[in-house]
Amino acid sequence: MITDNCTIVILGASGDLARRKLVPALQLLYKKGKLNDSNRIVGVGRTPFTDDSFRNMVALEERFGALLSYHQGIEGLKLYITSRKAGERVIFFLAQPPEAYVTTACALRKEGFAKNVSLVIEKPFGYNYASAQKLNQKLAECFNESNIFRIDHYLAKEAVQNILVFRFANALFYPIWNSRYIESIQISALEDIGILNRGAYFDKAGIIRDMVQNHLFQLLSLLTMEAPPTLCPVDISLQKTLLLRSLRVERYRRFQYNGYTAEKGVAAGSTTETYAELKLAIDNFRWTGIPIYLRTGKAVNRRGTEIGIRLKPLPRLLFNERGELSPNRIVFKIQPAEGIIIDLSSKAPGTDNSIVGTHMNFCYRDAFASEIPDAYQRLLHDIIRGDRTLFVTAEETETAWKVLEKVLDKGDVTAYERGTLPDAGLGSDWIDFEKYVSLCA
Ligand code: BG6
Repeated sequence: MITDNCTIVILGASGDLARRKLVPALQLLYKKGKLNDSNRIVGVGRTPFTDDSFRNMVALEERFGALLSYHQGIEGLKLYITSRKAGERVIFFLAQPPEAYVTTACALRKEGFAKNVSLVIEKPFGYNYASAQKLNQKLAECFNESNIFRIDHYLAKEAVQNILVFRFANALFYPIWNSRYIESIQISALEDIGILNRGAYFDKAGIIRDMVQNHLFQLLSLLTMEAPPTLCPVDISLQKTLLLRSLRVERYRRFQYNGYTAEKGVAAGSTTETYAELKLAIDNFRWTGIPIYLRTGKAVNRRGTEIGIRLKPLPRLLFNERGELSPNRIVFKIQPAEGIIIDLSSKAPGTDNSIVGTHMNFCYRDAFASEIPDAYQRLLHDIIRGDRTLFVTAEETETAWKVLEKVLDKGDVTAYERGTLPDAGLGSDWIDFEKYVSLCA
């Protein structure tokens, strides 16, 4: 197996991410046979642990636990790994604060790791265009771009991976995917929770950096990019980058929930936004003139991520002489329940000719018996087998930052009450996505 013998090193091994997400995901991969007894998992951190105390801290089943060991610090790590005779390939997961990425990457390089290694990092990748560029340059001094895996966990969501399949594996939709038939595109990613205990991070970021620059731009790229010539990661990334290069912010508004400045870690008088709405344009031949609306925020009325495609109204002919027929819509439910719903007009049964709105529903829970794997399982498995499709390149992140240059931290911030959805008034005519919750729950 391609995954045989590789060593997975978790730097920042006693942290929350390692304990709550990474080690449990690796354990599930082991249970499913995607990892085996030839693999080694090494925790690395500053805290001294014995192998046993490290295993106890991450609470594991015995057989899987035997794959784990602990090494304090990076110095001596190369010799330690070699002595464990675990094969050549080493994956470094930097479960650390982003400020540590460059120092760690360079320390690993200095320790002698250069060939046959993968470096895994998670957002934020910089703070704006200049800092992202600097981060990428510094990382490139220590590792090749082809060895770096940048995680955007939205790409590992099943319903997100299905976007390209929906578009390019169904002859039905491909012809209408353009400004001739589509009236607008809407992406909504809402959370009912506030910033919880992440005030110190969030207050320096805001929702545009936290969600739009990465997750929402990735969704939008998959939804609107041109067909790649092949499915290889380089081709897909190229199309995403070209799309991002055509993206332009037309209008935006920023909001902050009442009580935000009293949260732990938030600066007094902070003007960081917790909710934002943006109207974008894509300046290419396929999408010119079509508005794209994005909205995302914390502490609003509900949790849910949806994409809505509004098709253009029918001509005022035949059944639509009075212009009363609702245009077709396609709703991608990304979470919490995954599905795709298409709104159609149909004749109501009976002796008269009334037309009603109906839906065609595809719900993952009804269509598939298999469990939907958690994002980290999918991502770790891809890293281990060297598949870069679901990872973000340096160019993609930099291009995405560039689009937002004039928006970050700019403009007024309007207050909203917790539990309510602000109205930005950008002319979006948002689809009432809540209506679709019960159609695929
Ligand atoms: C993270 C953001 O990247 O994504 C969080 O930093 C946000 O602020 C989270 O809550 C949302 O992820 P999901 O998978 O719960 O939609």
